[in-house]
Amino acid sequence: MQIISGFSKLSKDEKINWLMEQVPSSQTEINGIKTFWHTDSIVQKQFDEFSENTIGNFYLPFGLAPNFILNERVYTIPMVIEESSVVAAASKSAKFWASRGGFKTNIISTTKSGQVHFIFDGDHKNLETFFNKNKNNLLEQTKDISINMNKRGGGITALNLLDKTSELENYYQLDVKFETCDAMGANFINSILESLGNSLERFALDDKELIGPLDVTMCILSNYTPECLVEVSVECPIEDLGEIDGLSSSEFAKKFYQAIQIAKIDRTRAVTHNKGIFNGIDAVVIATGNDFRATSACAHAYAAKDGSYRSLSSCSIDNDIFKFTLTLPLAIGTVGGLTNLHPMAKLSLDILGRPSASELMGIIACAGLAQNFGAIRSLVTTGIQKGHMKMHLLNILNQLDATKEQIESAKIHFREKVISFSEVRNFLERKLH
Ligand code: MEV
Repeated sequence: MQIISGFSKLSKDEKINWLMEQVPSSQTEINGIKTFWHTDSIVQKQFDEFSENTIGNFYLPFGLAPNFILNERVYTIPMVIEESSVVAAASKSAKFWASRGGFKTNIISTTKSGQVHFIFDGDHKNLETFFNKNKNNLLEQTKDISINMNKRGGGITALNLLDKTSELENYYQLDVKFETCDAMGANFINSILESLGNSLERFALDDKELIGPLDVTMCILSNYTPECLVEVSVECPIEDLGEIDGLSSSEFAKKFYQAIQIAKIDRTRAVTHNKGIFNGIDAVVIATGNDFRATSACAHAYAAKDGSYRSLSSCSIDNDIFKFTLTLPLAIGTVGGLTNLHPMAKLSLDILGRPSASELMGIIACAGLAQNFGAIRSLVTTGIQKGHMKMHLLNILNQLDATKEQIESAKIHFREKVISFSEVRNFLERKLH
């Protein structure tokens, strides 16, 4: 690869030609990029403009997990994920719990936050007096930006000065809390914070009683949103669990409970356990055009909030009632951003019945809990490889261009056998001769 300047100024075709020169061994694949362009040039232009230096689209499967009963309502949940078995596991868990009362969600809180990080080299009390004197005026300066959000019932809900000097010399924050209604609110929050930061510096310069320089380092929302919290749970009497893959209901409940306890105390297990939860969560976050990096970063920090990384889900067995719960922060939106720009995100929200952001928090958490239930169910009974290998076999067969008949006989042949690429290829070759 060579260094290039002005790459962003090249047309899409020129970018592709440049890539062709740089990676001549991949000419066929690079030529193939255009086959992934949308047939409607207006739609393609929309995709191109989401991000910079776009030369094509990267496809991921868009699947549906039906039969979710959530707060007495039936949902079909759209999921975007490349990993096999995830949508199947979510659908299986949804159906299992549909006949056992369904999922219940509880939106605990919807507060988001952001900070103006600044350095003040002076007396803390003096800064506090300055802040209290200027607090209303600081808020007043954000009025124009807040006007539409205020109309929708949102806006700034709190503004506080935090002294962080015990952790970093002369470091303070304006800590701002927000309600952003159905929007994820990143742009709104960042605009408000930048306005506050500018006003803070300006007021400090003009204030003769504030002794010491005040310098704003940065203004940015926090993706850590422990006060934007949702809880989802399923529960039923143990006996209603029925026999599960050879285990009696009480044996299953006990093993399941143990698995969750292990993920609560052991980091090596907790990370994988939470990854399974995020198989469900990310798939819906992506399908609905939300920011999966933000939700993941936040939830993993939340999982480590007491200093150790732990399972985000919990299990209890009290008075013979099996209860499985997931509590996590989810800052997402159903208006703004990609949610209304990406045609598939728009469709996902239509499939979900145009939910509010709070309702979507519940739906996403529900997919996470369903996924986690499915994974633990397999792990404590058959193991996960059985299900995975079925899909793996299909992927290999498709890669090898197997016919319908070959696929069916391979499924029977490999039912109890170890599946590998070479074994499947040998099987197909034997079939041909
Ligand atoms: C695989 O993507 C996810 C699991 O490993 C989750 C888990 O172990 O709980 C099956």
